[in-house]
Parts: sequence; C-alpha cells; structure tokens
Amino acid sequence: MASNLWAKKSIEKLVAGATGEENQLKRSLSSTSLVALGIGAIIGAGLFSLTGIAAANHAGPAVTISFVLAAVGCAFAGLCYAEFASMIPVAGSAYTYSYATMGEFVAWIIGWDLVLEYALGAATVAVSWSRYLLELLSSWGIHLPASLVCSPYEVLTLADGTIINGGYINLPAVIIVVLLSLLLIRGTHESARMNNILVVLKLAVVLLFIILGWSHIDPQNYVPYIPENTGTKGQFGWSGIATAAAVVFFAFIGFDAVSTAAQEAKNPQKGMPIGILGSLVVCTILYVLFSYVMTGLVHYSTFANDAKPAATAFAKTGYDFLQNGLIIAILAGYTSVMLVMLLGQSRVFYSMSKDGLLPKFFGDVHKKFHSPWKTNLFFMVFVSLFAGFVPVSDLGHMVSIGTLFAFSLVCAGVWLLRVKSPEIPRAFKTPLVPLIPLMGILVCGYLMTSLPIEAWYRLAVWLLLGLVIYFVYGRKNSVINKEDE
Ligand code: ALA
Repeated sequence: MASNLWAKKSIEKLVAGATGEENQLKRSLSSTSLVALGIGAIIGAGLFSLTGIAAANHAGPAVTISFVLAAVGCAFAGLCYAEFASMIPVAGSAYTYSYATMGEFVAWIIGWDLVLEYALGAATVAVSWSRYLLELLSSWGIHLPASLVCSPYEVLTLADGTIINGGYINLPAVIIVVLLSLLLIRGTHESARMNNILVVLKLAVVLLFIILGWSHIDPQNYVPYIPENTGTKGQFGWSGIATAAAVVFFAFIGFDAVSTAAQEAKNPQKGMPIGILGSLVVCTILYVLFSYVMTGLVHYSTFANDAKPAATAFAKTGYDFLQNGLIIAILAGYTSVMLVMLLGQSRVFYSMSKDGLLPKFFGDVHKKFHSPWKTNLFFMVFVSLFAGFVPVSDLGHMVSIGTLFAFSLVCAGVWLLRVKSPEIPRAFKTPLVPLIPLMGILVCGYLMTSLPIEAWYRLAVWLLLGLVIYFVYGRKNSVINKEDE
C-alpha cells in the first residue's frame, strides 16, 4: 500500500505533465488578461463593504494606512507566489508548489485549505452581492419576499428599515453562483472575456468615485486623522489601524488566484509575476485613494452598521442620477470576484484529482469547452449551499484564516526550495530570501491572531475532515506513491 506522506513531485515532471495530450487545459491567457484576472479577483466586497466597517469601528480616516499595512503583508506573500508561479507554471497554485517542495501530505493540507479561500470566498461575496442587489431592486420599487433573500441565522436590515430576522434561503446569492458556474463550464476563454468587461466596469466606478468625490471632500472629516484610542485595544489609535488592516485584508484576497490559472497562461514565466504583482500594485493605489475620498466625503462614524458605505459616501457628491449606476458597477465588480474564485477553486481540485488525491471525476475536462466541468458542477452545488444558508460574517472569517494559512505555507516553501534546490531555474526570483518569506510568515501569522477564536476552531475542524479524507482515499490512490511502488 502507498505510504510515503512526504513524497514530492519533481518540478520537471510537473511541467511535463502539463503538456501532454489528454485532458488538458488550453493556453489562452495573455499577460493583460492575467492582470485583469487578478484585479477581477481582488476588488470587491473588501473595498465596497469592509472599508466602511474598518473606518467606523477601528481606524477612522487612517484606514488608508491600514490598507498600506495589509498591502505590505500581501506583497511579501505575493513576491513568493510570483517566484513559484514562474518556476512551476502548472494549474493548482499553492497546492502544486507545496507538492514539489514539502511533499504530498502538506500539499494535500494546502489544497484542502484553499477550499476555504476560493469556494467560501465566492460564497461570501455572493452574499454581499445579494445585498447590493436588494438595494438596487428596492430603489426600483421591487421587493423580493423576505424569506427568500436571507439565510436562516442572519439578521438583515433592508434599505426601507425593514428587519428580517432569519429567512429560508438567500436565493439571489444562489442564483448568481449557479449562473457563473455555468459560464465557467462554457470555457476559460469566454469567462476571461466576460471578466475583462466586468473589470473595466469595476475600474471605471472606482476611478469615477475618486475623481468625482475628490472635490467634495470636507477636510474637517480628517480631523483627527488618527482618532485617539478609546482605551480598548483595536478601537482607534495605532492598535485600531492594525486591527483594521486585518479586516481589510479580505480586500486583497484573490491576487494569488492568478497563479491557479498558470497552466492556461500563454507565457507563464513572464505573465505570472506580472499578473500577480501588477494587480497587487494597481489595487493598493486604488484602495488608498478610494478610502481617502470615502472618509473625506462623510465622517467615518457614519459607516457604522452600513452595508453599502460606498453608496452612502457617494450620495454626498450630489450626483444622485449616478447612484444606481454605481451600484450596478459594484455588482459587476463582485461578479468578477466570484468568477475568478470559482475558476481558481476548480483548477485546484483539477490538479488534486490528476494527482490521484481526489477521484478522477474532478479531473475530467470537457471535450468541447476544455473546462473541468464536473468540478465546476460540484462547486456550483457546494458554494450555493454556503451562499444560501450561512451568515456572511462566519464565512468571511473562514476565508481570511484559510487564506493567511496558505500564504504562510507558500512563503515557507519558497525559502525551503531555495535552500534545497538552488539550481532550478527561476524566471522570477523573490528578493532578499529568507527575509521576505520570513516577514510574510510573521505578518500573516499576526493577522491570523487578530481573527476570532471561532475561526480557529472551524479551521481545525475543516483540516481534520481533510485528514480523514486523505487517509481514507488520497493516500491509497496517490499517483506519485503508486509510481514509486
Ligand atoms: N478581495 C475580494 C473582495 O474583496 C475577495 O471581494
């Protein structure tokens, strides 16, 4: 029976395995499409919803500094991802990298953990999407039945002040997940084209917000720029800025999703670092400007309990006729986040199935559309269940902790591989190794400690479930272990 938990895949084999004939994904993504993919996954609920919460409860106008802090943390991890992605341009992201560096068991844990980032990330954004949709519909006088727009354990306040104390299902969230999954089955190229359109719309709304809002900033709203700490850690002052950084970290999640599509990049050695780091830089600049304008338009305290702070701030500009346009563009922005997350998730399971750690079913590629369609269908159901029935705050914390954990392991992997196999050619090299990976591990670890203890318990339960599946199925069916027998 297969038994080597630490069996590693050789990098040469990994790359060669991605160029065979059968069941292969299509190389159709240019560097521009990859940056668009990154921006598509990054700008979403984190910016349009969480900035308000972070400013109102933790940092005030200094939420701009929190964005910079979170970006620095992500940049450490981003530099490590870029080295791996340019060296191992194969589908599967962090999962694949760890297979080559830390062995099958760690790879399995990361692959399993990435479900938290991608699948639950898509579910979280679907729930926020449904809230902005309700706003839009109610401004047109359309009111959906309360029991069909809210999950069972959620309390939702609608625009007209109605409070829904738990419904049956969040149906709009489920519908958007189903539609996007079907689009993904149609093919990566089609999905990327749709994503490019959504990203243009999303960037337009962010820029419009910054440009139109700038002249309506009231400098009084910035006084004091760093509100004094209330006496409780995390409530304003420098500790508040750090806590807000953990909150807005969610806004950066997704830059790594670019690396899941490495096998579909036309020129991955060059495209991967550009896609990952380029999208991270663009988004950081936009986030700082956006949050600066947002907290300048209205006083930060206005955003407490506001699920649509961007719309609230924008109302100050007096461009009322643009309000619905803003919401529509935000909805488009959320849609692209979900699209890339669902894409990333299916690619991770595709790779795990190819390695025999998951049933073959997940690795089947559609003859005509070249997409791993059975995986797409599986996650359509899985993500729909979470989007329809689980409260958004529980989901959000799970996503953050799962992502931070994966980031730390990727940083460790880059360091490890530099020591063990310095001779392997790297199209992009992370600078200052081991300092950068070490800083990445420390910052991600610090952000993890600022998440609620429940998130830690759930992470532990999820990983335990993963262990059971690995020992019951993956270990026995692992391709690499069979080869070694
Ligand atoms: N970064 C993504 C968002 O903010 C997950 O929606």
